[in-house]
Amino acid sequence: MRQTSGAAPAREQWTGQYGFILAAIGSAVGLGNIWRFPGVAYDNGGGAFLIPYLVALLTAGIPILLLDYSLGHRFRGSAPTVFRRLGRPYEPLGWFQVAISFVIATYYTVIVVWAIRYVGFSVDLAWGDSPGTFLMEDFLQNSGPGYRFDFVGGIFWPMLILWIAVLVILALGVQRGLERANKIFMPMLAVTFLALVVRALFLDGAGEGLTAFFTPNWDALLDGNVWIAAYSQIFFSLSIAFGIMLTYSSYLARRSNVAPTGYVVAFANSSFELLAGIGVFATIGFMAAQQQVAVGELEGLTGVGLSFVTFPQIVSMMPGGPVFGVLFFISLSLAGITSLISILQVVSAAFQEKFGLSRVQASMYIGGLAAVISLVLYSSTSGLSILDTVDKYTNEVGVVLSAIVTCVVVTVGARKLPELRAHLNRVSTARIGRWWSVLVGAVVPIALAVMLVSSLTELLTEPYEGYPWGFVTLVGWGTIGLITIGAIVYTLIPWQRPVDDFAADPLPEGARS
Ligand code: ALA
Repeated sequence: MRQTSGAAPAREQWTGQYGFILAAIGSAVGLGNIWRFPGVAYDNGGGAFLIPYLVALLTAGIPILLLDYSLGHRFRGSAPTVFRRLGRPYEPLGWFQVAISFVIATYYTVIVVWAIRYVGFSVDLAWGDSPGTFLMEDFLQNSGPGYRFDFVGGIFWPMLILWIAVLVILALGVQRGLERANKIFMPMLAVTFLALVVRALFLDGAGEGLTAFFTPNWDALLDGNVWIAAYSQIFFSLSIAFGIMLTYSSYLARRSNVAPTGYVVAFANSSFELLAGIGVFATIGFMAAQQQVAVGELEGLTGVGLSFVTFPQIVSMMPGGPVFGVLFFISLSLAGITSLISILQVVSAAFQEKFGLSRVQASMYIGGLAAVISLVLYSSTSGLSILDTVDKYTNEVGVVLSAIVTCVVVTVGARKLPELRAHLNRVSTARIGRWWSVLVGAVVPIALAVMLVSSLTELLTEPYEGYPWGFVTLVGWGTIGLITIGAIVYTLIPWQRPVDDFAADPLPEGARS
């Protein structure tokens, strides 16, 4: 493929290890931790879910996080650059990851917008006596599964402002944009969220909520879907296998202590996730106590309903509820924004590198396109069902497939696993043993392939959420189809910047295994 001779500009860098760790935790801690985890855990066996969750963290989460770090840090680029440097045939995998991030960014924004709007709604308890009706009818004006793109002004305008804000952060670059945003937002998040959890623990009934959350349903461990839920949760939550950690680690200085950084990020993310579970279920215990029912009898403890219906209900019941509501939705918004910018950076970095765009151009063109798609689809009356379907297929098919193919490419295609392990060991104070190669080279791809087959069987035999078949086929499989086509088309376009004249740092003699 033709390459132009324009030299690539010097690679941007984090100011140091601390800036990187903060940004990586900012990316990992997101809607997945506060909005997704408590409901998923409750739905999949409560306390028993912590077992598949920990197994998924140790067997796939940390190994793939280290794989993403080693790829980005050794081959110093966005996903398409890195996979191209592993070998020409592998570039589509990089674009596949970029396309997944593009799709996730389009719907992630709207959930952050809901959270931001609910900060305001909390102040005067705008949802009145019926938060469910308020969410579906007054706020979202939800028309159910279908293609009615009627414009919902209360979502469109704040979403437009959010898009402009995040694209400005992106255009400012790694240090002045991403790192600075994380340095401001992450301490704010820590303070608001801790205040929220401490308050929740002192509510009447908090103990019952925690008991419900931690009481195991051991039968759940025999259910394959519980394991799939645990692995999907870990992938989404740690921001792995769709280009984010790979891109972020490519901005680390060459002399950085890479592996221990990964352990810090993984530990911080899971701790935050558990804390979110504790805070949310202590609060739910309060609601059950007020209604004099058992926690297990309450409905709406998962998904959109948990944060945007059940929580508002509780806020209305609680003394000082508006303050609690404001803290909760500010936490959700801050966590969401720091993750959103990392997802968009995957896309921006790829286009800068392949097409020679500047940061500002990449933000304007590519970010602008994502913004338009996101505004049309998700600020509309059909937005909710489209979001739900796109999220399901992108995560349970797209991300899992991306993780499997990455393991296979690195292990048997490009045969770079020994080199990557040697690289990690050269730059880290903690030694990565052969266990890592066994997990990445065999255990993870095999386990994920089994799960993918099971997810696919379910998606092909039962329409997701009982939506019409035509709808799930067009929206769900259509999304996977577009991601795949995007991956092929962008690979075929010639590079405008040099990509192949790259030499990775030398490794010490005998350090290749
Ligand atoms: N890791 C991000 C989250 O948990 C994407 O929301």
